[in-house]
Amino acid sequence: MNIVLLGPPGAGKGTQARRLITERNMVQLSTGDMLREARSSDSEMGRLVAEVMDRGGLVTDEIVIGLIEERIAADHGGGLIFDGFPRTLAQADALEALLAQHGEPLAAAIEIRVDDEALVARISGRYTCASCGEVYHDMTQPPAKAGVCDACGGTEFIRRADDNEESLRHRLMEYYRKTSPLIGYYHAKGILATVDGLEKVEDVAAKIAAVLDRA
Ligand code: AP5
Repeated sequence: MNIVLLGPPGAGKGTQARRLITERNMVQLSTGDMLREARSSDSEMGRLVAEVMDRGGLVTDEIVIGLIEERIAADHGGGLIFDGFPRTLAQADALEALLAQHGEPLAAAIEIRVDDEALVARISGRYTCASCGEVYHDMTQPPAKAGVCDACGGTEFIRRADDNEESLRHRLMEYYRKTSPLIGYYHAKGILATVDGLEKVEDVAAKIAAVLDRA
């Protein structure tokens, strides 16, 4: 079962994707993670990507579609979770064509809806484990033991360069201008489901599980 997680920066896409990996043996394809890996390479492409990400813009469709294309052919386990992809109509069309080639259409596009005020609070308090990428929040989602990752026991944590107010404002604008039209796109295809992302992490997860069980 292949699904898309849609939602603005900080909606909880990554948090929910990680639960689906554990609970349903699904495979997360996060273009944000792929691009963060690409930017750390000492290449012209890496420098370009870093510049765009830091100011909160969208990397070109060509680059991200290429990254997804490379990964889609690999083993899928219990299905693919597209996290942060697609973000434009061109990317959505490309995804549909790629999945059609593999004979595995999307089962659902799940919109996680959160208002802007909550997003600012979430992004400014977010940090992740440097070893395994588990996502935490200063106030709402700290590890059980301070300074130790619940998932892997790691003790180093990182904050993202684009998690600042100015970049977030730009990321939100990009979301409303270029990505939110995908809500209508998937609604028209009859596979859109919307969940309230303001609820607790476990409650959002339960709503997503119910969508997957119905799909
Ligand atoms: P990307 O990495 O995809 O970032 P994003 O979409 O901005 O989303 P985030 O990772 O910021 O948030 P999230 O929804 O995963 O929230 P999380 O679970 O971490 O993209 C980064 C950049 O890469 C883009 O700006 C762009 O430049 C580029 N890019 C990526 N994909 C691209 C594409 N397809 N095309 C072009 N460019 C692309 O949660 C956030 C915080 O909230 C955490 O601290 C968490 O603990 C907390 N939290 C989560 N859920 C809850 C809850 N229910 N209640 C309370 N707190 C919660």
